[in-house]
Amino acid sequence: MSQRPQSRFLGTGHFLPPLVRTNFDLEKMVDTSDTWIRERTGIRERHIAPEGMVTSDMAAEAARRALDAAGIAATDLDMIIVGTVTPDMPMPATAVFVQQKIGAPQCPAFDLSAACAGFIFGLSIADKFIRSGAARHVLVIGVELLSRVIDWTDRTTCVLFGDGAGAVVLGPSDGERGILSTKIHTDGSLATSLMIPAGGSVLPPSHEVIERRENKVKMRGQDIFKAAVKNLYSASKNAVEIAGLQNSDVDWVVPHQANLRIIDQVTQRADYPKEKVLSNIDRVGNTSSASIPILLDENIRSGKIRAGDTVLMCALGAGISWGSALVRI
Ligand code: ACO
Repeated sequence: MSQRPQSRFLGTGHFLPPLVRTNFDLEKMVDTSDTWIRERTGIRERHIAPEGMVTSDMAAEAARRALDAAGIAATDLDMIIVGTVTPDMPMPATAVFVQQKIGAPQCPAFDLSAACAGFIFGLSIADKFIRSGAARHVLVIGVELLSRVIDWTDRTTCVLFGDGAGAVVLGPSDGERGILSTKIHTDGSLATSLMIPAGGSVLPPSHEVIERRENKVKMRGQDIFKAAVKNLYSASKNAVEIAGLQNSDVDWVVPHQANLRIIDQVTQRADYPKEKVLSNIDRVGNTSSASIPILLDENIRSGKIRAGDTVLMCALGAGISWGSALVRI
C-alpha cells in the first residue's frame, strides 16, 4: 500500500537565459570537439547568463512562473528554500534577494548547499515542514549560475555545465497527489572529488588564489561518474520501495542531467524502459540543482507529465550528496 501524501506540487516554473553556447563555440575556446562532448556526455549546447544577470534574478523569474502556475501569491509563502552552490554572494543568502524580488513576506528564506542534489534536499525539507503543519506554502528553487565559477580554459569541466533555474511551490495535499517519499544522503569521504577550493576560510580570496584558478570548479570526473551510477541506482530503488510501490507504478523518471551515460546506466540497471526516462541534457547541459526542476517543468508545461502521474527524481553531486523523491504530480 502506498502512503497518503501530505504535501503536493501546486505549480512549477523554470528560467533559462536566452544566450546559448554550443559545442562548436567551445571548440574555439579549448582543445575539444563537438563529437567528443556529444559521445561522452550527450550535451550539444548550454545556456549562459549574460553579464549583469545574477543568480537571484534567474531564481526569481522561475519562482514567479511557479507561483503563477500554482495560483498562489508571493505574499502567501511561508518559506523559501534555495538550493545553490553559485549564490549571489557568500552572505546573505540568495533566498533573501529572491524574497525581495518576488515580494514575499518576512517568511524564513535560506540557501542550502547540496550541489546537484540541492533541489531534492530542498523538497525533503519542505515536505517535512508541511507535514508537521509548521508551514503551508513553501517555495523550493534550484538555481545555478555555473558559468561564473567554471574555468573556461579547463576542457575537462567547461564543456559540462550551464546556467538556469527551476522552482516548485508546495502546499498541503488534499488527496492522493503529492510527495510519496524522499530520501537524502551524504558521503563526505569523497568531498574533494568535486569542489571550488577557494573563496571560504581554507583559501580566502587573494591574487595568488585567482592566478592559480582555485576559485573555479575542480573535478575528478571518473570518481563522480562511478559514485553517481552506484548511488543513483540505490536511491531510485529506495524511493519506490519506501513508498510501497513497484517500478511499474512509475510513469516518468526525471533524473539529474549530469551525463547521458550516467542516466542510461542507472535507468537500465534499475530496469526502466527508455520511453519513461526524460532528458534535456542535449539542450541544457548540467545545471546542477536546477537540473531536475527545469526538466520537470518543461514536461509539465508540454503536457507530457500530467496530473496524477507518478514521477521518480534522483540526483547526485558534490559532497558527495545524493537523494531521490517519488511524487504523484
Ligand atoms: N574534449 C576532448 N577530450 C577531453 C575532454 C574534452 N572536453 N575532456 C577530457 N578529455 C580527454 C582526457 O584528457 C582524456 O585524455 P587522455 O586519455 O589522453 O588522458 C580522455 O579525454 C578521456 O578522459 P576521461 O576523464 O577518462 O573521460 P570520461 O569518459 O570519464 O568522461 C567526463 C569525462 C565526461 C567528465 C565523465 O567522467 C563524467 O561525466 N563524470 C561525471 C562528472 C559530472 O557529471 N560532474 C558534474 C557534477 S556531479 C554530477 O552532476 C553527477
